[in-house]
Amino acid sequence: MDDKLIEQINEKTPIVDLVSEFVSLSKRGKNYMGLCPFHQEKTPSFSVSPEKNIAKCMSCGEGGTPINFYRKIKNLSFEEAAQELAIRAGIEIKTEKIIKDPNKHFHQLMNEVTSFYQFNLKNSEKGLEAIKYLYGRQMTDELMTHFRIGYAPTHGQTLYNVLKDKGYAVSDMISLGVVKQSDDGDYYDLFSDRIIFPITNPKGDVAGLSGRTMNPKETVKYINSPETVIFKKGQLLYHFYEALPEIRKSKQVVLYEGFFDVISSYAAGIKHGVATMGTALTKEQTKLIKSVTQSMIVAYDGDSAGLKAADHAIPMLEKEGLKVEILMIPEKMDPDDFIKSYGPEQFEMLFGEYTKDAYQFRYDYYKTGLNLANANDMKSFRGKVMDMIRNSDASIKAFYTQKLSLDLGIPLSEFDFRKETTRKEPVIPKIEKPKMLNKYERAERSLIFEMMKSKAVCSKVMKVLKPTDFADHITASIRIDIERYYYDHQVFDMNDFLDGLTAEHRAYVEQILLKDMYWVNQLSIDETDIQDYVEIVKLANVKRRLEEIQSHINQIQVVSQTLIEERDRLQGILKEKH
Ligand code: GTP
Ligand code: MN
Repeated sequence: MDDKLIEQINEKTPIVDLVSEFVSLSKRGKNYMGLCPFHQEKTPSFSVSPEKNIAKCMSCGEGGTPINFYRKIKNLSFEEAAQELAIRAGIEIKTEKIIKDPNKHFHQLMNEVTSFYQFNLKNSEKGLEAIKYLYGRQMTDELMTHFRIGYAPTHGQTLYNVLKDKGYAVSDMISLGVVKQSDDGDYYDLFSDRIIFPITNPKGDVAGLSGRTMNPKETVKYINSPETVIFKKGQLLYHFYEALPEIRKSKQVVLYEGFFDVISSYAAGIKHGVATMGTALTKEQTKLIKSVTQSMIVAYDGDSAGLKAADHAIPMLEKEGLKVEILMIPEKMDPDDFIKSYGPEQFEMLFGEYTKDAYQFRYDYYKTGLNLANANDMKSFRGKVMDMIRNSDASIKAFYTQKLSLDLGIPLSEFDFRKETTRKEPVIPKIEKPKMLNKYERAERSLIFEMMKSKAVCSKVMKVLKPTDFADHITASIRIDIERYYYDHQVFDMNDFLDGLTAEHRAYVEQILLKDMYWVNQLSIDETDIQDYVEIVKLANVKRRLEEIQSHINQIQVVSQTLIEERDRLQGILKEKH
């Protein structure tokens, strides 16, 4: 596509109309503002300029021309986005320039199959039994709709007949594996008496299906569509397309092992989950994740198979440059079991408190079940840890060789990597395990977040709290950074703000605060909450001051006791001399 054509498409696509399809906008002077669809926020920073015909987030910087906005929000290539907008604008593109999806008719057929199974779930006697089963697994009607869950009837040719009546070619049904031909030449449906989970490709077209039995005696729990031209299990992730808006907002992906884990987690409010389909994570899937985010959480089952799979997945994910954390699910449960047993709030808590960075996870995983007094166990453990850190930063090497040295009682000087590490004190690895904050720390941190979100809140907090009222010195100085930032900025732009910070502050905001911010953003915080936080910080000050005074008094008491003793001693000497 040439530049002139692209320019023409952009010109003929009014940005306000386009953005309004995805974001609710309100007029502000010459421009329009709305909540940014590309990141999580409460105060609108997505600005749309009809004059310049562009849309841009002042906070995360995402957006641009109509084509750029459209490709990002629809997860399309530039060409595809341009083409769709051209059609809308009535701009003719020469046919040889149009990229056609060669598998369009296949996707159409799969969408048809999905709709038929969805209809069957709600409109057949056996379908209602399936719904009962799903209700029993705490699924709701909304969830069934979102995940497009269906039911495949028992009778062996229902789907075949429906598709035939609609004029689909039998050869296509067979190519896509939804219909099979028996030895005697008859056609019958692949899925019989199963709950159907459609699996979409990253563009949202149904690529394949998976069917779960409801019969506990049945040996095959899930049957998948066979690998077809459009269904390659190793290249797709369940719920990837559907989770995209949430992935963008949270800048993170949660990776599960099972369909039900994704669904239960979605119901529990963690909506950016995806899953592999019974196979180990592949490189293609890793690349797919990397194409939309930098950071992810692996939430595999807590049993030994799950831990092993996580150990296998980590190096692949890290190779793509993803920041990986592992969610530790207690009691060998899978996420679905955990949510069912302990509820959604506890599950959310897990994300704050039971994640380990990829190194810590592997170190602990390699160590479990070993007897480190046994020479073989010791050797194997040492080998695994050394392999893990072989290509890592000097600070990671230093940290884990030191840990090994302590755990194994071997002097640090015996580890090969020592020579490669700097002589400085070992540095703690970058990603800290999130710790549980107490009420005061939480209040300080929340105030910082709210100050970042709004200049008005910042001014208010400045009036009522001195920087020294914050207990944590780093929170206190970041608060000053925020105040300074607002001094010559009206709207808070995170990247811009980070650019102006010292390395230490920047690391703290990026590694500690921003990780927390996602969860804080899930809460709705209002005026009274802010007042409460201020009160809590003030109370913490009173408490601290009291402790200080008490400690002074104790000191003074000790001093005065010593003085009294000295006085008595001296008086004693005087008395003796007289
Ligand atoms: P529930 O047992 O209903 O909770 O489902 P689940 O999604 O938790 O399944 P599980 O943890 O047992 O397995 C994880 C994933 O592996 C599933 O979501 C499927 O994609 C796949 N899987 C499980 N069992 C089978 C099977 O028998 N055949 C095939 N092909 N895939 C399976
Ligand atoms: Mn399960």
